[in-house]
Amino acid sequence: MKIIKSIAEWRKIFRDLQGTDVGFVPTMGFLHQGHMSLVEKSVAENKITAVSIFVNPTQFNNQSDLDSYPIDLERDRQMLLEAGVDYLLEPTYDELYNDGFRYQVCENQQSLDLCGAKREGHFTGVLTVVMKLLNITKATKAYFGEKDWQQLQLISGMAEAFFMDTQIVGCPIVREDSGLALSSRNKLIAEDHKAIAPSLHETISSGLPVDEMKTALEEKGFKIDYLKEKDGRIFVAAFLGSVRLIDNVKL
Ligand code: PAJ
Repeated sequence: MKIIKSIAEWRKIFRDLQGTDVGFVPTMGFLHQGHMSLVEKSVAENKITAVSIFVNPTQFNNQSDLDSYPIDLERDRQMLLEAGVDYLLEPTYDELYNDGFRYQVCENQQSLDLCGAKREGHFTGVLTVVMKLLNITKATKAYFGEKDWQQLQLISGMAEAFFMDTQIVGCPIVREDSGLALSSRNKLIAEDHKAIAPSLHETISSGLPVDEMKTALEEKGFKIDYLKEKDGRIFVAAFLGSVRLIDNVKL
C-alpha cells in the first residue's frame, strides 16, 4: 500500500490510472468495521482501491468536536494494508484547501434539514471536500455508508447535478451485536452511558409513534437533537453526554 500526502503526486498517479476501475472510500479515520465494509466492497469490485483519511475541519461547526475527534493513524494504516488497499491518501489542509475555502459547494434545500438544521455549513464542508477528493481521484466508484443517509443523498445529488463521472455507491449500516451503529465517536461515550447507547437503535426500530420514541429516549437520558420521520425512514440524532450519535432505519 502506497501512502501519498502530496496532491500533485496523487493526481499524477490517478491520471495514469485512467481506464482502470478505481474504487475510492473517503474517511476521517479512526477506522472500524463500518468503514472497512466500504473498503471491502471496493476491493471486491475494483482493480484498484484508494482510501483517504482527512479530518475535514470545514464540516465541523464546533471546535471542541473537532479537537476531540479520535485519531489513530498507525492502526488505520495497518487495517487498510491488511484489507488489500492500494493507495492511502493523507492530504494536508493547506494543499486540499489551496483556495482557503473561498470556493464552496452548497446545496440549499435538503442540507438545511436533519443534520444540517443546527450545524450551519456542515454539509457545505462535506460536499466541498468530497468534490475536491473525487476530482483528484477521478474514481470509477466511490463508497458511502447509509449510516450518514442524508450525506449519501446529498453526495449522490451533487454527482448528478454536476455531471460527475464517479458512480456513488451506498452501503448498509454496520452495527454492533447490541444494535448500536458503529461510529468513530462511540469511543468517546462515557462508561456509565455505554449500556444506554444501544437503546437509540432499539427505540427507533420499535414502531412507536415518533413522540413516544422521543419520550422513551429522553427518559433513558438522551438529549434529542432531532427525531423525524421522512421519506419512509426514521432519522435520529441525540446526545449522550457530549457525544452526538446518529442513526436511521427504514420504516
Ligand atoms: P466518516 O465519518 O469517517 O465516515 C466515512 C464513511 O464511512 C462514510 O461514508 C460513512 O457513512 C461510513 N460509515 C461510518 N460508519 C458506518 C457504519 N456503521 N456502517 C456503514 N458505513 C459507515 O462521513 C465522513 O467520514 C465524512 O463526512 C467524509 C465523507 C469522509 C467527508 O469528510
